[in-house]
Amino acid sequence: MSKRRVAILISGRGSNMTALVEAAKASDYPADIVLVISNVAGAPGLAFASKAGIETLTIESKSFGKDREAFEHKLNDTLVAQKIELVCLAGFMRLLTPWFVQQWQGRMLNIHPALLPSYKGLHTHERALADGVKIHGATVHFVVPEMDSGPIVMQGDVPVMPGDTPETLAKRVLGVEHRIYPEALRLVASGQFKSPAA
Ligand code: GRF
Repeated sequence: MSKRRVAILISGRGSNMTALVEAAKASDYPADIVLVISNVAGAPGLAFASKAGIETLTIESKSFGKDREAFEHKLNDTLVAQKIELVCLAGFMRLLTPWFVQQWQGRMLNIHPALLPSYKGLHTHERALADGVKIHGATVHFVVPEMDSGPIVMQGDVPVMPGDTPETLAKRVLGVEHRIYPEALRLVASGQFKSPAA
């Protein structure tokens, strides 16, 4: 079985990237993580990836200023040159233009720390606590031009406990993220789940 060539885009800690890299070590996993790109120089996740023997690259979005398209052309050229088949966003904190999203529509996943379509955007745990919801979680979805939308591949839920803070809740949700992202990528890379919009 040939494995899909996957690139992961990060901006920081990279714990979801790490979970994907660990999962992909299994011989029957249908994806190979061949490239990790950060748009932030010195993102902590880069060190883990290169220690794991994965090619890492920094394409600093900051140096492109407001020229989103120039940044994205460089990103896209790099992914194409590396024959990347699937892209996983994992804590990638840069909005992507419709042009870039269209290049990868049906082939790009994101993980969001909430049960979409609730709590799109930032500060999901704070908002969930403020609303008093009792169930919270994380979602892996295909990326479409509209932020935190797109066909859902997998979700995992956690209870919200009395006394939770954004930090304790984030930690519980992160545990679920690390479980569902590798499972979702397995489904997509093996062709068992295809984007309905693709
Ligand atoms: C995760 O909570 C992810 O859902 C969100 O950003 C965070 C990234 O964490 N998109 P990490 O860099 O994967 O540790």
